[in-house]
Amino acid sequence: MTMTLNRQTVIPITELEQSAFCRSDGNLRTQTLEEEFKAGVRWQKIPTRYMKLSPEEIDAGIAEAKKALGNQVILLGHHYQRSDVIKYADIRGDSYLLSKQAAEIKDARAIVFCGVHFMAETADILSSDDQSVILPNMAAGCSMADMANLEEVEDCWDDLQSVLEGQGTVVPITYMNSTADIKALCGKNGGLVCTSSNADRAFNWAYERGDKVLFLPDQHLGRNTALKMGIPETEMVVWDPFKQMGGLSPEQIRRAKVILWKGHCSVHTRFTTKQIEEAREQHPGINVIVHPECTKEAVAAADYVGSTEYIQNMINAAPTGSVWGVGTEINMVSRLAKENPDKTVFCLDPVVCPCATMYRIHPAYVLWVLDGLVAGLVINRIEVPPATKANARIALDRMLEISK
Ligand code: 13P
Ligand code: SF4
Repeated sequence: MTMTLNRQTVIPITELEQSAFCRSDGNLRTQTLEEEFKAGVRWQKIPTRYMKLSPEEIDAGIAEAKKALGNQVILLGHHYQRSDVIKYADIRGDSYLLSKQAAEIKDARAIVFCGVHFMAETADILSSDDQSVILPNMAAGCSMADMANLEEVEDCWDDLQSVLEGQGTVVPITYMNSTADIKALCGKNGGLVCTSSNADRAFNWAYERGDKVLFLPDQHLGRNTALKMGIPETEMVVWDPFKQMGGLSPEQIRRAKVILWKGHCSVHTRFTTKQIEEAREQHPGINVIVHPECTKEAVAAADYVGSTEYIQNMINAAPTGSVWGVGTEINMVSRLAKENPDKTVFCLDPVVCPCATMYRIHPAYVLWVLDGLVAGLVINRIEVPPATKANARIALDRMLEISK
């Protein structure tokens, strides 16, 4: 039996919710679901008995369910998951690594994805039809992915074709952080998907096939990648979906080499050059490492830039005594600090703001979906419709191919 909820249940972050978790004391301790509810978080409804469970009870329940399920289930965990959830993951990784895993997992009948909605959709597209992908809390979306909806992107695509009238071809690239239907649009129109670990390869692939790139939905990753490849900012324009023709003149579109969708990540755009300057003043010799969803100014001021997996590998491999100021999500930074006690690792932003939607995966949800599997019930299955799946798969396969 399957319990499937649709896309509408992906609830946007409220200011109250974001502020409930932004703290300056660095305390990100997991509370019972009931306590976290009271703190102002909007969650998917769950049977009441899970609301009051203590961490010890959840721990015991998950261990028991995993034992009963054996290799029928596999848990994937993105680096931004809180430590109280990532500890249950069989495989941890960045979004590229986890998508690759999802394509390669053969034994498990169920893949429980501790991450956000677009990641679970991708796992569904890449896994086989007889495997079910489960997102423990359907409210775990991504505010950046929600900044590009299909209707707006189709309008943009049609406008670009009519302005260019066959003079110049556009290749669409979508960041993994996008809905399955945007991935499908890219697959159908000769484009591909990329992640923060292969965006430059995706640009190279696109310029071998066309003159322009339409980059969705993160303007920062798109801009940072293009700058790294030597494309000047004068050859980039930003498409604003709330304006007629993206707010651009036909001339601006014809001259552009890169068209950047006006989307961003609210977690990564918090990092500033001022924070980096202060960190350098306080810790001479510090290494500054940031995610490419940060602004171009923060990226230019950093020493290293890369995906979450890259950030983790760099810090894990760094010499004892080294100091790292990190520009990415706080749950990951706190864990890196804990796992590298011989180094100083801290978040560049003094106000600790987790990714509020990643944070919606509470351990009680993991227990709930695992209990469901033990009882023969697939709760929160993510199922991409077949036509969308086929075209999105084309775009994802192109990404997997260029990353080999
Ligand atoms: P990675 O691909 O680097 O894991 O990043 C995913 C993400 O959502 C960053 O905000
Ligand atoms: Fe989305 Fe930003 Fe959260 Fe990544 S950190 S999942 S881009 S909201």
